[in-house]
Order: sequence, then C-alpha cells, then structure tokens
Amino acid sequence: MSNVSNEQWQVRKDVAFARGQGNMAPIFIDHAKNAEMWDVEGNRYIDFGTGIAVCSTGHTNPKVTAAVQEQLQRFSHTCVMVTPYSSAVELAEKLNELAPGNTPKKTIFVTTGAEAVENCVKIARAYTGRRGVIAFNGGFHGRTLLAMGLTGKITPYKNLFGPFPAEIFHAPYPVEYHGVSVEDSLKALEMLFKVDIAPSDVAAIIVEPVQGEGGFYPAPNEFMQALRTVCNEHGIVLIADEIQTGFGRTGKFFCSEYADIEPDLITVAKGVAGGFPLSAVVGKAEIMDAPLPGGLGGTYAGSPLGCTAALAVIDVIAGENLVERATQIGSIFGGRLCELQSLYPDVIGEVRADRGAMIAVELVKNGDAQQPDADLTKALVTLAYQRGLILLSCGIRGNVIRFLPALTISDELINEGLDIVEACFKELTVQ
Ligand SMILES: Cc1ncc(COP(=O)(O)O)c(C=O)c1O
Repeated sequence: MSNVSNEQWQVRKDVAFARGQGNMAPIFIDHAKNAEMWDVEGNRYIDFGTGIAVCSTGHTNPKVTAAVQEQLQRFSHTCVMVTPYSSAVELAEKLNELAPGNTPKKTIFVTTGAEAVENCVKIARAYTGRRGVIAFNGGFHGRTLLAMGLTGKITPYKNLFGPFPAEIFHAPYPVEYHGVSVEDSLKALEMLFKVDIAPSDVAAIIVEPVQGEGGFYPAPNEFMQALRTVCNEHGIVLIADEIQTGFGRTGKFFCSEYADIEPDLITVAKGVAGGFPLSAVVGKAEIMDAPLPGGLGGTYAGSPLGCTAALAVIDVIAGENLVERATQIGSIFGGRLCELQSLYPDVIGEVRADRGAMIAVELVKNGDAQQPDADLTKALVTLAYQRGLILLSCGIRGNVIRFLPALTISDELINEGLDIVEACFKELTVQ
C-alpha cells in the first residue's frame, strides 16, 4: 500500500494529466482480485464496471495471469508483422471458429477498439470499392477521428474535434422506450438512401447489437435481421461492433447470435484479453482478404501478451461456462432491479436485463421517458463509490446506470453490491 492518499494522487494527476482524460472516481487502485478492488488507502470496492467491460474473467484471473507470466519469460514483443508467433495463429484460428455463421473466416489483430473499427471500414471500402458508411444515432465506436465520426453522440466525444471524415451518415437506432420503432428506423434508412447517399455507394453499415455507451439499448432481433437483408440486397458490408457485447458478455459468445445472423465483419476488443490491450477484426475470408499485403496492422498489433491472455480467457470462458453464467447474472440483476423499480416507479423508467451481464436502469423524473435524470445518475454513481461499489453511467442523455460485472462474480457479491445500490436509491430519492 502506498502512503500517498487517493486525494493526494488525484491532485498530482490533475497537474500531470490534461483534463480531457478525466477519471470518474478519485480512487487509485492498489490491487484487485476477481470482482473486488482495493485502493491505495486499503478501502475495498465491489466492481460492477470491470474497467468498462474488460475484465470479464475477473481481475488477476489466475489462469490468465499464469499464461501471461509464462509468455513474458519467453518474449514480450517481436511484431506479428515481422516475425510472428504461434499464439497469434492459434488465437486467429479460435476467433474464426467462434464467429457466427458457416462462411470461412479470417482475422487480423490490432490494439484498441477504435482501431478495430477503423480497420473494418478500410476493409469494407477495399472490398466494395465504395465510400459511404452508415452508423446509428447514439452509437459509440471510439475516440480516433474516423471512429468518432461514426459515433452518434456529441458531448463529450465530438465537441471541439471536427471536421470529421466525410461520407459518414447516421440513421435512427430503434429504441421503443424513446418512441423509435424498428419500422421508424428502417424507414429513415430508406429515406437516407434517397436523400444522402445511394445504397450502391455505401461500403458498410456498422451497428452495435446492444448500444453500449449510448445507453444499453439492445437492437431488436428483427432490426438486425432487416439490416442483414438490406446489406445483402445492396452488396453492403454489415459490421457488427461487438467490442462491448462480445466474448460471452451478453449470454451468447457474440451478441449477433441472438438475431441468428452472420455479420460480414465483427470487431473484437475489451473482454477478449482480460485486461491486456488487444483487438481484432474477424470476418468473411473473401472480404478480409481485399486489402493488399501490408495494408493492415500496427507495431503492437496482436501483442504476444494479449494473444496468450486471450487464449487463456477463451479456456476460462469455456471451462467455467461463463456464457451461461452471463445469463444467470442478468436474471439475478434483472429480478432485483425490477423489485427496486416497483419501489421507485417514478425514478426507474426502465430496467434492461435481457442481454446477459449487460444490464441497465434508466433514471427519469416523474416516470417519464422524456425527462431524463442525469443529476440523480451522477449522484448515484458518486454515492455508490463512496459506499464501496464501482458503478458506471452511460446514455446519450447521461441518465443510465450500466452494470458490467465480471462473469466470474459470485451471487453473494452481486447481492452485496445491489444492497448498496438499493441503499443509495433510498438515500438519494425523496418518496
Ligand atoms: C462498441 C464500442 N466500439 C468501440 C469502442 C472503442 O474501443 P477503445 O476504447 O478500445 O478504442 C468501444 C469502447 O467503449 C465500444 O464500446
């Protein structure tokens, strides 16, 4: 433990870091184990955030840690584009097998989620020879310029950073709770094809099967299926951005499986490597092979530490049935959050818990979906960490609490964390 307090570290951080890279909680972590973390002052936290959906197999998972330690003894970097190694090949083979659908697949590795997204667009453009990309309102695809251009939320991501890359168009994402039906979305897409860009000029449509940062809104199956049909009709590449929804998080290995569709390209990051920076694009082999040799990659692409960690993560997910466990976690959360909603019907507008361990509550005023309560959301996140629980918020209106626990969390810890959530609601809401 350090003898510097959280507060002192925060002061030093505020001086040393540009304000653009802020932190949600003034808590500096000393160590972490499975679904718990301890700060530099020895305070313990239950972690319902997993570093934004990354440590799905738990912090310092013993199998992942052992695999990385063993790799580290041998070598840490050679560059997969110079002298590759077996773990990268094995991982690509596994990802090709795990991706939904029967079409033969190929993989490339990069380092961050945003890079995976950017590479999807490059691959789709190379394959189709077309320029346009369609994304959705409320979508989040990363902080690099192209990914930000695709992102459908202004504050804080896009303010001050334009102009954005051209040829990106946004369509409404269906959210029944906010009065946007699947039909509305598809009609708007049709209109976009008439007003902004001909479908024959569109290289790709990119969609999150559950919008993450945008508010944890699951795409209805019929919407994903309709997008598949539109893409088939017009020769458009369908990209499923599964950076947050992939790797068992939603109760399927990839969330696209709910709609029983085969995306053309899938992004993989976050949960893939248990906290080591690794991302990938997995897709239909013919499409993946469109760019010329050397056109894709990066110095740290497919780091051996990340690849070894990912192979261990896949073993842990399979060995501990974590995909099924995600569904169980969703129902435990769902049950308790619905009980809470019945106590606070004017405050908890909607509970979303039907996509495994990607769970959310949307907070409103007067039970009205059109009156988001961002202040209460912020207050809840703050009170929760003061009481020893790490919660994350999200949502285009800033009024959604998202729950992203490790898939290895015990029922006891879930319930202990939810007791804190309940106590925070009681303290912050006047009945
Ligand atoms: C769906 C989705 N796409 C892309 C990204 C960007 O990933 P990264 O922050 O690793 O660049 C995120 C990150 O939250 C995400 O949730």
